[in-house]
Amino acid sequence: MRMLALYSIKGGVGKTASAVNLAAEAAAAGQRVLLWDLDPQAATTFYLRAKPKVRGGVARLVKGKAAYDKVIRATQVENLDLLPAALASRELDHLLAERHDNQLRRILKPIRDDYDLVILDCPPSLSTLSESVFASVDALLVPIVPTVLSLRTLEQLRDFLDERDIPCPVWPFITLADRRRTLHREIIDSLPERWPLRLSHTIPSASVVERMGLERAPLRSFAPRTAAAQAYHQLWEEVAQRLS
Ligand SMILES: Nc1ncnc2c1ncn2[C@@H]1O[C@H](COP(=O)(O)OP(=O)(O)OP(=O)(O)O)[C@@H](O)[C@H]1O
Ligand SMILES: [Mg+2]
Repeated sequence: MRMLALYSIKGGVGKTASAVNLAAEAAAAGQRVLLWDLDPQAATTFYLRAKPKVRGGVARLVKGKAAYDKVIRATQVENLDLLPAALASRELDHLLAERHDNQLRRILKPIRDDYDLVILDCPPSLSTLSESVFASVDALLVPIVPTVLSLRTLEQLRDFLDERDIPCPVWPFITLADRRRTLHREIIDSLPERWPLRLSHTIPSASVVERMGLERAPLRSFAPRTAAAQAYHQLWEEVAQRLS
């Protein structure tokens, strides 16, 4: 079972949009995918039309497989299931604090044969939860809006991981890109040199991505021929190639 996280310290950079679209692309490619909404704002849960309530809370999850059947929802996307954002974050933080580093991976142990890929949609913070994310995933997918500040938070993340010797690969990719803007172009073109592990496919800034909130579905379900949908398709292929 592979695990990836959409992660950034910065808010509003496209983590949730990317988590939903990449999960849908992976599912369309035949993988059995679980999307875990770790953000109490529950945007992923909203996009996939699931109600953000888990009866019994997160403690229930550690009790074994039967409990999962009650909390995991199928979505309207084939092969894509959702673990909704019901886990009150304090409760989850508490659970993580008292257990092992890679607690998120451990929590999923009873269902690890049911999924090929788990994608985590993370809140924009650096907390106990994020440290467990770093210890659990195969890589962090970090959306970068092509601005100086966004690059700075990427460097802060790298410093944080380096200082603590956390061996978690960081795969940045550009999103919300507008190639008509000189600064965007300059930052996009400079990324390969500064970040050799960056993913090469760029997600454009496109109003169709904002429409996901109205359609409540991944791009490939309602606008598969748009540039943004194609970009997510290609980005997923690149990620899949790295994982294999
Ligand atoms: N490629 C894009 N083009 C245009 N708008 C986008 C794009 N990606 C995301 N958005 C919009 O930007 C806003 C923030 O996106 P999103 O919710 O995915 O970010 P986030 O990093 O998950 O935010 P948060 O940190 O609050 O969880 C949303 O309104 C979304 O519709
Ligand atoms: Mg989000």
